[in-house]
Amino acid sequence: MQIIHTLDDLHCWRADNTDVALVPTMGNLHDGHLALVELARQHAARVVVSIFVNPLQFGPNEDFSRYPRTLEADCARLKAIGVDAVFSPDATELFPQPQRYHVEPPELANELCGAFRPGHFRGVATIVLKLLNLVQPRVAVFGRKDYQQLAIIRGLCADLNVPVQIVASDTVRADDGLALSSRNGFLSPTERAEAPRLYRLLGEIRQQLVDGKRNFSALENAAAQTLSEHGWRVDYIAIRTPVLELPVTADRQFVVLGAAHLGRTRLIDNIELTATKNL
Ligand code: PAF
Repeated sequence: MQIIHTLDDLHCWRADNTDVALVPTMGNLHDGHLALVELARQHAARVVVSIFVNPLQFGPNEDFSRYPRTLEADCARLKAIGVDAVFSPDATELFPQPQRYHVEPPELANELCGAFRPGHFRGVATIVLKLLNLVQPRVAVFGRKDYQQLAIIRGLCADLNVPVQIVASDTVRADDGLALSSRNGFLSPTERAEAPRLYRLLGEIRQQLVDGKRNFSALENAAAQTLSEHGWRVDYIAIRTPVLELPVTADRQFVVLGAAHLGRTRLIDNIELTATKNL
């Protein structure tokens, strides 16, 4: 496995490797990332994983400085599963001067997580476009856990005609249902025991939708209230269509999304609900 730090070395590697899938990450890899890699491998002859903690997508009061950086352990895990290359540039390599041009995503970037993290998706879209331009993969793999991110990246590639196929990977969960995330490591033992409640509540909403309930805001509010009663600070619980149109316009398919803080840690999750006998 080649570990690449510079754009020059990336260009050389890319010249020798034509059929490439990219898995963009910020490192601190867990089994969810490894599932992205496995899916990538099914789609291309070579897999490159990028590891870069992107300053553009963190707000001034967010966890950029404490975001875990574990490059050595990450590379060992990726080598063990046969990844072909890791692209881990320094900030100076990606930003030889401060970034002047940014991707301006549409209104969706200001909804849901975007309403609580101003500029986040602009930063994500900008770095993802840079990575896609640098690596020029045929395929890029993203997780469904970051549902809104996936929707925005799909939109970015469609609108800007980026010649890449975006592939989505299912969320990987711990036995108790908690979605794997690099931020889970911030949770205290008590918070970790509480954390699966978010997924459970999203699942309860899903069941109520299957049962034919359509009082969307009552369902959202009840789940948010339950989380608050258990010590969470809720950003949102929201029922949307899969393309995240606002408000819900179709009665056949939904995604139920949530974001809430346990102590200093912000967790997100979602559950999709596609055609069922009731819908
Ligand atoms: O999902 C992530 O880890 C990041 O948002 C991404 C896509 C690697 C961009 O920095």
